[in-house]
Amino acid sequence: MLNPIKIIILIILIVSISIFGSLAYGKEKNAGIKPWKELDADPQYSAGQSLEFYNLKIENGSRATLVVLDLNDRHFELLPFFCENTTCPSEIAKKEKTLVAINGGFFNLNNGESTSYVVINGQNQCEPKHNKALTENPALKPYLETIFNRSELRILENKEGKRQAIITPHNAPLPNGWTLVHSLQAGPMLVPTINDTEEAFVRKIDSGKIVEEAGILSSVIEQINKENPAQLPILLKLSPDSDNRLIEEVMAMGQKFSLAGYVCSNTSLTRSGLKTKNAQDMKVGGLSGPPLKSLALALCRRIYELKEDKQIVIGCGGITNGQDAYDFIRAGASTLQLYTALVYEGPGIVRKVCEELSALLKKDGLTVSRAVGADCLSGSKI
Ligand SMILES: Cc1cc2nc3c(=O)[nH]c(=O)nc-3n(C[C@H](O)[C@H](O)[C@H](O)COP(=O)(O)O)c2cc1C
Repeated sequence: MLNPIKIIILIILIVSISIFGSLAYGKEKNAGIKPWKELDADPQYSAGQSLEFYNLKIENGSRATLVVLDLNDRHFELLPFFCENTTCPSEIAKKEKTLVAINGGFFNLNNGESTSYVVINGQNQCEPKHNKALTENPALKPYLETIFNRSELRILENKEGKRQAIITPHNAPLPNGWTLVHSLQAGPMLVPTINDTEEAFVRKIDSGKIVEEAGILSSVIEQINKENPAQLPILLKLSPDSDNRLIEEVMAMGQKFSLAGYVCSNTSLTRSGLKTKNAQDMKVGGLSGPPLKSLALALCRRIYELKEDKQIVIGCGGITNGQDAYDFIRAGASTLQLYTALVYEGPGIVRKVCEELSALLKKDGLTVSRAVGADCLSGSKI
C-alpha cells in the first residue's frame, strides 16, 4: 500500500494523446470548433520543435496551458508515479528533470481514497469500489456503474516489447497480444469525444441544470469541520433556483453534518420577477432585491418544513420593509438578512424595518418567536 495521500503525476504522453485526439475529432465531427492553432494563444515556451506550451484564456475566465507534443519524435517516455504529498506539477517536473508533469487521478485529500483506477507497472494501486465517499453516497448510487467505468489512458506492451497508448473505458478488454503496463483515469474530456456528463463528472437534475458531484459538498464540509475546532456554527446558503431533488440531497447532507441552519436565499439566475423589457436577455449576474422575494420566500417555507427543529432559517431576499420581514418570519425565518436594501437606503433601513415589523406583530397579537413558521403547513415550531 502506498502513502495515504497519493497524487498521480503523468509525464508527457497523456498530453499529446489528448491533443491528437482533439485534432482528429475536430476534423470529423466538430467543423464549427476552431482548431487549437487558431486560438488566442502565444507559444510561451518550447523545447525544440517537438514540444510547445501555449497559455490559453478560457471563456469562463480561467486559464489553461496547452502542451503540444510531436509524436513523431520517439524520444519521449511516459512515466506515471505517485507523489507522497500535495505538490504542484511544475515542482515535480523540476525535481524529476522531466519536460512536463501533469496531474491525474482523483483523490480525497482527507483519507487518500481514490475515485480513479490506477495501474502502475501492472499493479492495481487503487480500488474506487472501496471508496465509501462514492459507495455510501445515496445521490451517487445511480451513477456508480458509470463512474467505475470511466475512460482511462492505458499504456500497453506486446511480446516484442513494443508499446502503444490507447484511451478506452475501464471495463473494455485488452486487445489480443497486449498486456497492461500502466493505466490512469483522468478528468472529464480525456478526449473531447467523451463529455463530462456521459462519465458522471457532472449530472443533470430535473430542471436540466448541471450540478457537480454531490460528494463535493460533503468533502467541503468535512474540511471546514477540520479547520473548526471551536465548532462554530456552520450555515448553508441555498439557491432559490435549486429543484426539489437537489434540495433534498442538500438537506440530507445538512442533517448528516449537524449544520446549524440555512440561509434562504442567495440571488437567482432567473429573471422572472422583473418588469424590465427583454429581462430574459440580461444574462450576467444574480438577481437580488424585491423581484427575488417570492422565490426566496417559497424556498424559506420549503426548508422550514424539511429542516430539523434545532436548525434555524435565516430569511433573505428582497427585504425592504416591515411587511417583507414579517412575511419571511411567517415563512419560517427566525433571523433576517438584508443586502440590496442596505445598498439603496443605507443603515437607517434597519430601524425602519424593525419599527414596521413591531407594529405588524402587535396588530396580530404575536411575538417574533410565535410568528416563526406561522404560514407553513407545520406551523410555528418554536
Ligand atoms: C453585489 C452582490 C454581491 C453578493 N455577494 C455575495 C457573496 O459573496 N456571498 C453570498 O453568500 N451572497 C452574496 N450576495 C447575495 C446576498 O447576500 C443576498 O443573499 C441576496 O442579494 C438576496 O438578498 P437581498 O435581496 O437583500 O439583496 C451578493 C449580492 C449582491 C447584490
